Amino acid sequence: MNRRRLARAVAENLRALGVTEVATESEADGILDDYRAGKRNRGKELSREMVLKREAEVVERCRKCGLGLQRTHAVYGDGDEYAEILFLGEAPGAEEDRQGLPFVGRAGQLLNRLLEQVGLRRSEVYIGNLLKCRPPENRDPLPEELAACRPYLDRQIAIIKPKIIVCLGLYAAQGILNTKESMARLRNSQHNIGDIVVIPTYHTAAALRFPGYKQQIYDDLCRARDLAYG
Ligand code: SF4
Ligand code: URA
Repeated sequence: MNRRRLARAVAENLRALGVTEVATESEADGILDDYRAGKRNRGKELSREMVLKREAEVVERCRKCGLGLQRTHAVYGDGDEYAEILFLGEAPGAEEDRQGLPFVGRAGQLLNRLLEQVGLRRSEVYIGNLLKCRPPENRDPLPEELAACRPYLDRQIAIIKPKIIVCLGLYAAQGILNTKESMARLRNSQHNIGDIVVIPTYHTAAALRFPGYKQQIYDDLCRARDLAYG
């Protein structure tokens, strides 16, 4: 295949993944150069690293809602682009905003410990948030912020194609499942979005305040692990 045809095929591949910004052949050419420079490629699929990196760059410049004006860094997400399990929190906190990485503050350290306890490595899962920018003073996200940010999350899920989504906290669970049910009720029923199993659990920040939640998060993580790898 000659270079132009290959570039066009790459652009089409990206569009199929919902990445509409990639419209021109010259842009696709740039991606192709990276791609040829030895990035991972499984089967015929275009490297997900590349597509996610591109999305992260768009998010870093995004001003679709007011949070874009106040952040230090957007936090797109982090982990294995081929992960079976996608963890979703609510929004970046202060430390995440500083580092541009998800779950790196105290709640993140507890998440790391719980992952370790159930035998999951952080590097083999993917971690993101409903909102990519930090709400000031960690206030609750506004409906218009969630709506503005949602397409990034929907594309992220379409690109990563996880088997399981673990929702950390009520906001993530209610946002993904489009419901107002309580966490206690959500944890007691089965949820799917298409082929993806959704497992709602408590936020690790809540477990820092109420240590009793740790056991329940642990149990939910075991279920996620068994469904993903069992
Ligand atoms: Fe854009 Fe989402 Fe950040 Fe709002 S929160 S500026 S929609 S990336
Ligand atoms: N809490 C969240 O919901 N997300 C983070 O990234 C950090 C803390």
